[in-house]
Amino acid sequence: MKAIIFDLDGVVVDTAKYHYLAWRKLAEELGFAFEEEHNERLKGVSRMRSLEIVLEVGGLTGMSEVQKQELAERKNGYYLNMISGIDQSEILPGISQFISRQKRAGYKIALGSASKSGRMILEKLGLADQFDAIVDGNLAERAKPDPQVFIKAAELLGVPCSECIVIEDAAAGIDAALAGGMKCIGVGGKAILGKADIVVPDTEALSGIEML
Ligand code: BG6
Ligand code: MG
Repeated sequence: MKAIIFDLDGVVVDTAKYHYLAWRKLAEELGFAFEEEHNERLKGVSRMRSLEIVLEVGGLTGMSEVQKQELAERKNGYYLNMISGIDQSEILPGISQFISRQKRAGYKIALGSASKSGRMILEKLGLADQFDAIVDGNLAERAKPDPQVFIKAAELLGVPCSECIVIEDAAAGIDAALAGGMKCIGVGGKAILGKADIVVPDTEALSGIEML
């Protein structure tokens, strides 16, 4: 294996909670409750796909494209506001050390995120320089579970997909990695991430994985 491709939200940084809070605020304004139990479905998927899921949960159908665009932008405004002060303290436990160690071991490091704010967040965290390639939602048109975001990252690194390991916290991301012919490590619960080659409960446990 020559490269490690990291998902961002929920793997590098604890931003999944802000996505959830922003969607919940939007749902409240639309007159329904968006509970945490539905949130798993939003992980890893694009902003517009997330909106469709949120509207489906609220039983709101028949919105025009213009209305959907406005709602997605409104949610993004809330989200950007929530993360405006984000800093290194929100990097998930052990991740900075893990990235440094794998770089020293010779791995190339990339980001493969659906988020259009991916690069900006890495910069705010002071981690952007550690990444040899950054592919975020601005570079990929097709959202996970399509493998495009990871394949682009592998291309930018110049590493064949079969020599890449993806680290993901979302079922859609695991499906994307496998569809791209990559190895995959899931961070979270086995019930949701069971298709991954290895599942660890949290980011701190990444350092104990033998295949790295
Ligand atoms: C993914 C998150 O990383 O990015 C999703 O897991 C989110 O919850 C998606 O919807 C898109 O993010 P953004 O910042 O472009 O709205
Ligand atoms: Mg994620």
